Amino acid sequence: MSETLANLLNETREFPPPDGLAADANVKADAYREADADRLGFWAEQARRLDWARDWDQVLDWSNPPFAKWFVGGQLNVAYNCVDRHVAAGLGDRVAIHWEGEPGDSRTITYADLLKLTSQAANALTDLGVVAGDRVAIYLPMIPEAAVAMLACARIGATHSVVFGGFSADALSSRIADASAKVVITADGGYRRGKPTDLKSTVDEAVSRTDSVEHVLVVRRTGGEVAWTDKDHWWHETVETAATEHTAQPFDAEHPLFILYTSGTTAKPKGILHTTGGYLTQTSYTTWATFDLKPETDVYWCTADIGWVTGHSYIVYGPLSNGATQVMYEGTPDTPHKGRFWDIVDKYRVSILYTAPTLIRTMMKWGEDIPAKYDLSSLRVLGSVGEPINPEAWMWYRQFVGRGNCPVVDTWWQTETGATMICPLPGVTAAKPGSAMSPLPGISADVVDDQGEPVPNGGGGFLVLREPWPSMLRTIWGDDQRFIDTYWSRFGAGAGGSGDWVYFAGDGAKKDNDGHLWLLGRVDDVMLVSGHNISTTEVESALVSHPSVAEAAVVGATDPTTGQAIVAFTIPRGSVDTSADGGEALIAELRDHVAKTLGPIAKPRQIMLVPELPKTRSGKIMRRLLRDVAENRSLGDVTTLQDSSVMDLISSGMRSGK
Ligand code: WT7
Repeated sequence: MSETLANLLNETREFPPPDGLAADANVKADAYREADADRLGFWAEQARRLDWARDWDQVLDWSNPPFAKWFVGGQLNVAYNCVDRHVAAGLGDRVAIHWEGEPGDSRTITYADLLKLTSQAANALTDLGVVAGDRVAIYLPMIPEAAVAMLACARIGATHSVVFGGFSADALSSRIADASAKVVITADGGYRRGKPTDLKSTVDEAVSRTDSVEHVLVVRRTGGEVAWTDKDHWWHETVETAATEHTAQPFDAEHPLFILYTSGTTAKPKGILHTTGGYLTQTSYTTWATFDLKPETDVYWCTADIGWVTGHSYIVYGPLSNGATQVMYEGTPDTPHKGRFWDIVDKYRVSILYTAPTLIRTMMKWGEDIPAKYDLSSLRVLGSVGEPINPEAWMWYRQFVGRGNCPVVDTWWQTETGATMICPLPGVTAAKPGSAMSPLPGISADVVDDQGEPVPNGGGGFLVLREPWPSMLRTIWGDDQRFIDTYWSRFGAGAGGSGDWVYFAGDGAKKDNDGHLWLLGRVDDVMLVSGHNISTTEVESALVSHPSVAEAAVVGATDPTTGQAIVAFTIPRGSVDTSADGGEALIAELRDHVAKTLGPIAKPRQIMLVPELPKTRSGKIMRRLLRDVAENRSLGDVTTLQDSSVMDLISSGMRSGK
């Protein structure tokens, strides 16, 4: 970016917390003041939420930046904190997980059950020769054993590396090899879109290409045929027959807890390393604070997959360390029907729902009459994560899911940050649709220009984080230099500048006139049109604010006159009929609508009406592929696409207007 971002969208709606929720909230406004006055003291206080076997000597050691050590000298066991201590406190009968399989089967797992299962899995892994510091790869569907496997690793100090169950043998083998995993935990398969999928053959292929794996533990989920090798052990014959007693040993606060790979667009995936004490402190605190979680009464549901960081922090470690009761669902939102999510909310009386903008926009496309058929009155807090949420999707979520009386918390964070960093507090903040609002207590975020200078209110630029935070990544597994280069070399001390070390998040952001933060997508996605930096997110939000549009993705395509030109791919809402003129009138109307909403500079050169958008398996739009289409190039690498047929659909179903 050669200049700061144009600040186009002007959203003035504001929604204060409902009175009852505000009065009763876990976190009140004084938390910000407290943390401002003594940031390290604030985090030390949050760390007291956990049970420590040995107290720390120092809250933060930042003497060797950017390598942080939190709670130096402290010792604790993560699984003990997520399971044992709740049972010891007499809460063994509380439901930890209401698990719902896609075909309609279900399981209820109490904290006492979880203790037994986790202890057995820890004993079984120990019997297979796994010791503290070893790496274990986990490649499972969304079944309770996924959480059990992670907790069992944490219990014995093994570092887990969860690989999303939709990834290929290629992706799995490169992750196994990078971490030299000794054991792989998998299943015969899982259910997705009404059909059993096969995981075991992918593992066989991946394992055959690597040389570190000694054992493979296989959960029987689908009962499908599997090939068997001499490394394989059935979970039900190994784990479920193991001793049910296991004493968890404490580990150092900086002991590696897990590696999670983020897939860069081109380069080798980065193994993001998270450790023990700081990670659990911040995931535990943020679960309680940002969702106003009341473990005695709430039923919490995060719809993410355990293969993403959201599943790690907000299905496993955050909720369980709080002793929460949660729902875990195996499958897709439209199996066997488009009301499945709402059916689950209704069935378990879910009170806190945490999902992604891509899902909310999909639900919008399906229509509000679907959630209207279910009793959603149990809901009280709604969360969003993964991408910027467009103001109209936020409003839809609030109105048709939250019936107008649930705070919507838009949570900004990354695999690298480990836990939520920027978001409203449900009992404190008057939230604006589409804004992540403010850094949480104890977090310091800012928006800077390309010289690293803070932008004034009303300005835009790069999102940075100024102070180390407890759940920050500690490095990239095996590659300290890449860690420094990727995150710490753009601004501040790491860039040779004076002053402090500054973390570069890679996201564009703006500050509105009140100083609230708006995330504008990855900086690689910002467009430069006739010398103006314009965010793809803002143009997409303008399009989605038109009543005929369900979803939109915007890219900058090379243009001889303007440098880059705005090209939009738009999915019309189900109710819109474009058959009369091939969509010409709608396209003209949408171009004018964007010009009216954001100004003439943001008017798309071209709008294509398409039936689908290309998304990664975690639901992010793959703008790179759309740029290929917009610039008439042959498509680049499509292997991370969620559904490889969408690009054909887009090319064949595309109607374009200039
Ligand atoms: C990137 C991180 C955070 C867990 C899931 C994704 C984008 C995430 C938001 C949000 C705007 C968001 C950013 C970020 N992002 N949440 N609330 N508003 N953008 O983790 O795969 O590591 O992706 O997702 O671009 O950098 P991830």
